[in-house]
Amino acid sequence: MRSGRTTLSKFLIDQLHGQTDQGQLAGLLVDIAAAIKAIAAATAKGALEGGHGYAGGDNVHGERQMQLDLLADTLMIEHCEWGGLVAGMASEEHAQPIGIPPDVQRGPYLLVFDPLDGSSNVAMNVAVGTIFSVLRHPHADAPTPADFLQPGAQQVAAGYAIYGPATMLVLTVGKGTHGFTLDREVGNFVLTHPDIRIPEDSSEFAINTSNERFWEPPVQRYVAECKAGASGIRGRDFNMRWIASMVADIHRVLMRGGVFMYPRDYKDPGKPGRLRLMYEASPIALVVEQAGGAATTGRQRLLDVRPESLHQRVPVILGSRHEVERIARYHAEYDNGTDKPYFSPLFRDRSLYRAQA
Ligand code: AHG
Ligand code: MN
Ligand code: MN
Repeated sequence: MRSGRTTLSKFLIDQLHGQTDQGQLAGLLVDIAAAIKAIAAATAKGALEGGHGYAGGDNVHGERQMQLDLLADTLMIEHCEWGGLVAGMASEEHAQPIGIPPDVQRGPYLLVFDPLDGSSNVAMNVAVGTIFSVLRHPHADAPTPADFLQPGAQQVAAGYAIYGPATMLVLTVGKGTHGFTLDREVGNFVLTHPDIRIPEDSSEFAINTSNERFWEPPVQRYVAECKAGASGIRGRDFNMRWIASMVADIHRVLMRGGVFMYPRDYKDPGKPGRLRLMYEASPIALVVEQAGGAATTGRQRLLDVRPESLHQRVPVILGSRHEVERIARYHAEYDNGTDKPYFSPLFRDRSLYRAQA
């Protein structure tokens, strides 16, 4: 690494050195970073410009769109559509992929993003973020929706921004996970957290426990054991956090370890999880794996899940490697029936849960 303050551009020149698409990938990531700076500026205005309320409509998921959801979405599109680097984009806020302007040359990448993650927190001035995933466009023609449906392992870059007390950009191009802090006066992202490593062990978990009665038994088992603390089989006390902004919860996991879960539950049997595979789970899974952590659905490595549709939901369990491996083991023990001793008589009849699966 060069000496002195390492800006994002300098960093990308070093990281992508020798890669045939070095200039193009660096160019796209710099465009994404520019969009993130613009979203950071809009977010930081708070209620001053009256842009933080409900936009008056719902998105493709039936969720209330906030004005800032729509502004962040527009800023991402406007910063990335004209550079000749993307062939198409997809966003949480659009049912179908977004084409590029007809007079712009098609680029080699597909960009998928969640423009504003945690937007239900905006009105409370709690940290929110942006999540992005860069895929290779598989051919030279205009992309079809099917071209986007690539497993997370095929991402060429992924990351997120967090708009907290400081704005940070955390990204990976498959060579570790690195964090940059926005120097607002100068307008540069500066490398402040090179080669982030998630501790393999941890005593902190993040899950929305109001859904506990809908969880599968392996997740109930894990959380019950954490809550039993020093008096239970884990032999130590655990701490719990839930911000309800995935980026903020994940950022904490990257900084000090822990496990984040939005597992499969039976609250709405039509939905196999809350979070979306292509622009929430896959990019965060790559960031986490590249930082030495693990990411699973409970039954499959998240990066190996092949999407069947753009807005597909997926169970998410990720963070400190040993904890994630333990939770995956609990799922396997439940599936093969060797977990029985851990459950009270109420849970012994596994058909109760099977019936709803
Ligand atoms: P989004 O704001 O992009 O729709 O995502 C919100 C997600 C995620 O950020 C968070 O972890 C989760 O929803 C919170 O869910 P609960 O409301 O169940 O806590
Ligand atoms: Mn989100
Ligand atoms: Mn969102």
